[in-house]
Amino acid sequence: MGLLELLNIRSKRPEGRVEGVEKVTGSGKYAAEYEVKNMCYAVLVNSTVPSGKIQSILVDKAKEVEGVIDIITHLHKPSVPGMDTEEKIKQSRFGLPIFHTDKIFFKGQPVAMVIAETLEDATFAASLVEAEYQKDSFDVDFNSAKETVALKAEGKERGNFDSWQNLPFTVDQQYNIKADVHNPMEMHATIAHWTGNDTLKLYDKNQGVNNVQRTFARLFSIPEKNIQVFSEFVGGGFGSGLRIWPHVLASVMGAKQVGHPVKLMLTRPQMFAATGYRPASWQRIKLASDPSGNLSGILHQAKNETSVYENFNDGITRVTRLIYKFPNLKTEAANVPLNLSTPTWMRGPGDCTGVFALESAIDELSYQLKMDPVTLRLKNISLEKHPDSNLPWSTHFLDECIDKGAKMIGWNARKATPSTVIEGDWYIGYGMAVGMWNAGRAEAKAAIIMSKDGSLVVQTAMTDIGTGTGTGMQNIAHEITGISKNKINIELGNSALPPAPSQGGSTGLSSVSGAVYDASNQLKQKLAEYASSVNGSFKGAVLENILLSDKSISLKNNSTVSVSYEELFEKNNLAEIRLEVASKPGSEREKFAFCSSAAHFCKVRVNKRTGKVKIEKLAVVADGGKIINSQAAANQMSGAAVGGIGMTLMEENQIDAKLGTLIGNDLAGYHFAVNADAPIIEVDFIHKPDPNINPSGAKGLGEVGIIGTAPAIANAIYNAIGIRMRDLPITPDKIL
Ligand code: MOS
Repeated sequence: MGLLELLNIRSKRPEGRVEGVEKVTGSGKYAAEYEVKNMCYAVLVNSTVPSGKIQSILVDKAKEVEGVIDIITHLHKPSVPGMDTEEKIKQSRFGLPIFHTDKIFFKGQPVAMVIAETLEDATFAASLVEAEYQKDSFDVDFNSAKETVALKAEGKERGNFDSWQNLPFTVDQQYNIKADVHNPMEMHATIAHWTGNDTLKLYDKNQGVNNVQRTFARLFSIPEKNIQVFSEFVGGGFGSGLRIWPHVLASVMGAKQVGHPVKLMLTRPQMFAATGYRPASWQRIKLASDPSGNLSGILHQAKNETSVYENFNDGITRVTRLIYKFPNLKTEAANVPLNLSTPTWMRGPGDCTGVFALESAIDELSYQLKMDPVTLRLKNISLEKHPDSNLPWSTHFLDECIDKGAKMIGWNARKATPSTVIEGDWYIGYGMAVGMWNAGRAEAKAAIIMSKDGSLVVQTAMTDIGTGTGTGMQNIAHEITGISKNKINIELGNSALPPAPSQGGSTGLSSVSGAVYDASNQLKQKLAEYASSVNGSFKGAVLENILLSDKSISLKNNSTVSVSYEELFEKNNLAEIRLEVASKPGSEREKFAFCSSAAHFCKVRVNKRTGKVKIEKLAVVADGGKIINSQAAANQMSGAAVGGIGMTLMEENQIDAKLGTLIGNDLAGYHFAVNADAPIIEVDFIHKPDPNINPSGAKGLGEVGIIGTAPAIANAIYNAIGIRMRDLPITPDKIL
């Protein structure tokens, strides 16, 4: 193939991610990949008991290793002003007070940190540190521990609980889900560099640089502006970067202690132990309907595990209050403390867990009623208003998602009676489920900078954890200004840039897109003002009439007037034009409720002889408002679906209950979905902008891609073999 042909093909390819080439070629640096002059390496030493007290830590042998600079323990550490009393530690809400306690809460808890000239020296020396413990009794068994914790009301009760207790169409079942881990490809790592006594530079893997900046400003009592946090490229997060984990503070303390920059990268097993996970859960759902399938009431009870040093509530019953018009509703929850590290938000947190129980129970009811599960859902979804607040949805097209998804999977081919479609050893079934997520938005700032040559830089501090935020920002700036995409550069993931919220909860693009949208429009207006000093026709030009090209500004209704940027910059004596814009939610949030939603359809094959479940096809249709970039949006949905397949069929953070040890804590021992497990995943969108959510009309998509995958698959398995799967993961032994 000749070069011209190649270029021709390249130019026809869909436009990619702004960070695509850097990420794929490895030239984009992750936190651990930076090199800083005079940098040292830190390695954590982890507790070998799950509960108790440190009696002594013997560091002498480790100190003899050549290259070892210092060893941090709770007895030998620099001062952290925000943690110097028990009261301050509590107030800091930091979580595990690393090196500030002699108590052991879980196995794998860091008890010491070796800092050395090389990683090899530090690793070897860490293996020589010995701690002696006073051992206490411990519990890591969620199954038995959950029985000892009482449920409490969560949220307001609706209607009358007794009124629906004896209806003939009732489902009352229990559901169990094992703990899953995020474990993004990029390791959690921090390079901490005190550039002065009270100035700190951090290269860190996280989902919110401003959050990291604020936290360390508080902990070390220094001004926020003295701290700069870089997370320009992030290799996945799934929620694991929303909190600041103990190792980040450890690296900052280490750098303070030795007076050199310190790099600390966790090992994969350490990531299993101390960067969060989706907590194991138990749920009970009791729901009932009248004979025509009108839902009468629901009781949703949920328990999730947490640590003994923090109380994490996953919010499992929230989604039950969101989707359907239950006139009577009662939700209860409890957290079960165990000797494990604290769980955290993981993709579709709470809702993803809750919807497995809810959508499995609704499916079960449909078989009792002998009603198509699609029909049952369409009858009961609250399309007009949020069932709790009674505010009208700004936009809500879950019904259209369902219609579209049913066509994509070929729902008509589904047989209402289970176990009726058989090909050899394989049973074939269809299932579906829906998911919703409150569509949030927070204040975000963005800056747009134009140079004389007409090129733009769009900036925000927000990180892009792989969702395509930067690409979305470029697309919006292009759409509004008309300037070519290849002339629009994106800068993000740096706390020195205009502040933005953390990227999480499907609020990233929803928050920052408004600022980019407004900044782009303000740039057009500003350019017209400057142009009017060159050509009077631009005086008082209205936004709709301003036309930008790559080189010049002109007027739509008068194509003869045009001012080049070069002339405009020269005449106005400008080096660059910079506009910084804040965008935040306002009174629309008092008038409307906001949600994203998705319908998940699954065609599955189940082998009755081997217990193998093969997902033949997933069809997912989402209402995410305006889709800024179809490719990035579809990636979000299909990536989430693969995560959902893992959660449904294989993922389980295995724990030895006798020893309190994680036993599958690496990517070989923890079974998750790989390419061979991912079927054809077809994704589509409703493509209707939400006119109230923000100026861009885009709602979030990160979560709804996984909220509903598990019940869609479990429901398809029931349709295939007539066995109801209420415990995840659905491993072959459960099928047989
Ligand atoms: Mo996510 S759990 O919103 O990173």
